[in-house]
This record gives sequence, C-alpha cells and structure tokens, in this order.
Amino acid sequence: MRLVVGIGLRVGTSYRELRDLVDEALRSAGGGEVRTVVTVEGRQSEPGLQRLVASLRAELQTASADELARQSVPTPSERVEQLAGTASVAEAAVLVTGAELVVTKRRSTNATAAVGRLSAAPGYTPSEREVVHRVIAERRDVRRGFVDTPIDDEMLQRVLEAAHRAPSVGLSQPWDFLLIRDIVTRRKVHDLATAQRDAFAASLPADRRRAFDGLKIEAVLDTPLNIAVTCDPGRGGRHVLGRHADPRTTWFSAAIAIQNLWLAARAEGLGVGWVSFFEPGEVAAVLDLPAHIDLIGYLCVGHVDEFAAAPELVRTGWATRRPLAWAVHEDHWGRRETSIVGDALQAVESAVPTAGRQTVRVVVGGDPATDLEQSEALVVVLGAEKPPVDFGVLWRPARTPVEAVELGVEIARDLSLQGAGEIVVHVVEQSEEADALARGLQVGASACGMAHSSA
Ligand SMILES: Cc1cc2nc3c(=O)[nH]c(=O)nc-3n(C[C@H](O)[C@H](O)[C@H](O)COP(=O)(O)O)c2cc1C
Repeated sequence: MRLVVGIGLRVGTSYRELRDLVDEALRSAGGGEVRTVVTVEGRQSEPGLQRLVASLRAELQTASADELARQSVPTPSERVEQLAGTASVAEAAVLVTGAELVVTKRRSTNATAAVGRLSAAPGYTPSEREVVHRVIAERRDVRRGFVDTPIDDEMLQRVLEAAHRAPSVGLSQPWDFLLIRDIVTRRKVHDLATAQRDAFAASLPADRRRAFDGLKIEAVLDTPLNIAVTCDPGRGGRHVLGRHADPRTTWFSAAIAIQNLWLAARAEGLGVGWVSFFEPGEVAAVLDLPAHIDLIGYLCVGHVDEFAAAPELVRTGWATRRPLAWAVHEDHWGRRETSIVGDALQAVESAVPTAGRQTVRVVVGGDPATDLEQSEALVVVLGAEKPPVDFGVLWRPARTPVEAVELGVEIARDLSLQGAGEIVVHVVEQSEEADALARGLQVGASACGMAHSSA
C-alpha cells in the first residue's frame, strides 16, 4: 500500500517524538510504504522532520496554509486555525495530495500526524503545480528590453542542464548547444536575419507590411549570448529505438530541448528570443557547422527589464491566440465540444483589435503558378493529390460537401487569428466541394466579424 503521511509540528519538535507518533499512526493504517510526507509551508526545514523523511526514504512536499484551509477535514481545530491559519495541518496535508484518509489525526505533545492511502502516484501539491503552470504561462519570446546584467555561469549551467534533460527518441539526445558570444559572428548572423526580414516585408500586402514594420523580430546584437541548438539526425547509429518508422522524431527531440531551455531560463529571469528569419544553411555556414549537423533553433539570451504578460504578437494585434477548444477533438477528427461556428464567435469576442487588418483573396481551386503573384492571394487546392509545399497554398482534400463547409469555416477562422479583416472568395473550380467550401468561408468570416464577398 502506498501511503502519505501528513504532519503538523511545532518548531523544534524532535525526530524521536515524530518517529514515535508516525510509527503509531502507521500501525493503525495496517502498514505500507510511505511515499510522501506533507507539511505546511515554512516547516519543511525542521531538522526533526527532515530526519524523519530521510529515515522513511520518502519525499517531502509542502502545501500553503491557504491550500490546507480549503480541504474539508474530519477533525478541524479552532486552536490550530488561530495559530496556523488552517483548521487542520496533518489531515488536510494528506487530502491535498488526493489521497484517501485512512488514519485521522493522532497527536503527541508537539505534533500531529495523519495517514492517507494513494490509489495512484501522487501529483504535486497545488502550490507546486501552480509554479509549473506559472512558468509555462509566463514564458515569453523576448526581443526587447535586454539589460546589461551578465549571465552568471552557474545560472547558464542550470538552464543547459534543463535543456539536456529533454526527452529524446530512443534516448538519442541528438542536440548540441553552440554558445555564441563573439560579436563578429553575431554581426554576420544579424546581417542574415536583416536580409530575411526585408524579404518577408517585401512579400506582404501593404497594410500588413506597415504593421510588420513596427515589430522587432530578433535580438542577436542586444543579448550577450546567442545559442544555436543543433541536431545530429544520425546520432546513435542505426538502431535507435523508435526512430526507424518516423525519422522526424529526431528533430522533434531537439525542439523539445529548446522548450526545456526556454522554461528554465524564464524561471531564472532570463529572456529568450527564438530567431527563425534565416535560411538555415546560411547560418550553418557562418557558424561553420559540420555538414551533418542541422540547425534547429537560434536563440538570443539575456537578462531583461521585464517579461510581458502576453505574447508581443498578441499585444501588438498582429495575431490572436487560438482557443484550446478548437484544438481538441474527441475520438474523431472534427468532433468537438462546441460547434465550429460557435468557436469562431467566441474567438471574435476575446480578440484584440488586429493591426494592419488585411484582405485575403481566397481562390478556391486556383492555379498557384499565376494566382499567387498577388500577395493578398491564398489558393485552396481541393484535389486528392498533395501539391508541393508553398505557404500560399492550402491543401484541403474535402471528401464530401459537408466536410468542405467545415473546412471553409475553419480556414476563415484561422485567417482571422492571423490578422485577416476581409475575405474575398473567388471560386475557380466547378465542383460541389468548391461551392461548399466557399459557403463555409462566408459563414466563418461572418461569425468572426470579417467582411466577406465573392469575386
Ligand atoms: C520555432 C519558432 C520560431 C520563431 N521565430 C521567431 C522569429 O524569428 N522572430 C520572432 O520575433 N519571434 C519568433 N518566434 C516567437 C513567436 O513569435 C512566439 O513564440 C509567439 O508569438 C508566442 O509568443 P510567446 O512565445 O511570448 O508566448 C518563434 C517561435 C518559435 C516556436
């Protein structure tokens, strides 16, 4: 039986007293293996408690008085409430882990103990969970506001350690971290990013270009450290477990290492900005990477004056976050909790007014070779055959008109997240699916509050 022991104790309570109390409580529980000992925040460094936890070979967790106060316990105490801000420590500490209480509060002169049974491995306590979710929510891609404070070596080591703990296919650990401080190299990299920035700007419709002009897309020279994260796709040889059927997993592994790095850096107060305004081969040449090594991400790292509460692209109105409900399908692709049109309405309600709202001319069944000459054009290809990759082309092989309507709604919805304010639909292909997709586009556009028309 996996057990949790909840403990309340006064400062200075001895190991002996705690041990006797807990042994008695464990006897009442009928024995079992103690996995976790939980106490109230502030008591975790008590020497008697630490010795107890070590002797039980358990893990010590803490919960705040507020979290404990939220638990409904069988033996609340007014006196404990006055002293600790919660009507129970020991019982509440058991319940906070999700365990079932099997031994209610036992008392000694200076301490209380209760025992719970776990049906599955426990998660973290609410306050520990909150820290995990906090760092995920507060991680930002940072391009502005870097300050001169140098990056401490030990801090950097912790961040790299976190990156290096990432999961990887077959434990192949295909990543490496090239730390770039040299200003000459960074200038060359910066030049490459500037050229790609110009090329991207030139590809945009006029309104969108004006909005893009106000955005900063890299901090190569503003940060003391750049990190090129690479992938060696062949690392580990021929029989890496899990890679044979899907070689992409090797590059996924390196990307996950970046996310670990990003989160650990945020916890240290280090800003990280990922720059992808590069043709990877050009950066690889500047960095003199061996030919078998792929560049996965180029990161700019440094201390910052603040972390914004929301992504810069959201704050500037360039793009909007996609609601989670759109991303979750139940058992079957497209089966969601809410209707696709309802989702679109919800998105428009929470949207920030978008900068440089653009008109998108959606050509259903168009010819990419000619139609994409206009920067506002987006070609939707409905045929079963996958066309060559081009971000001006959306391949949507709808199997039925009903499916085509849904795809049309979805395209409109996703365009609205990326700053479209108007959709002009031009149907070239003569098919039921093409007409249905056009209808879906109109419905989606109207649900998202976009102007729409047919050409
Ligand atoms: C693979 C990848 C490449 C990115 N490339 C750039 C880039 O070149 N320039 C830039 O300003 N932001 C870049 N970003 C940052 C995104 O714009 C950012 O993650 C997104 O807007 C959400 O903001 P947040 O990271 O602050 O939550 C990149 C992010 C990822 C994951």
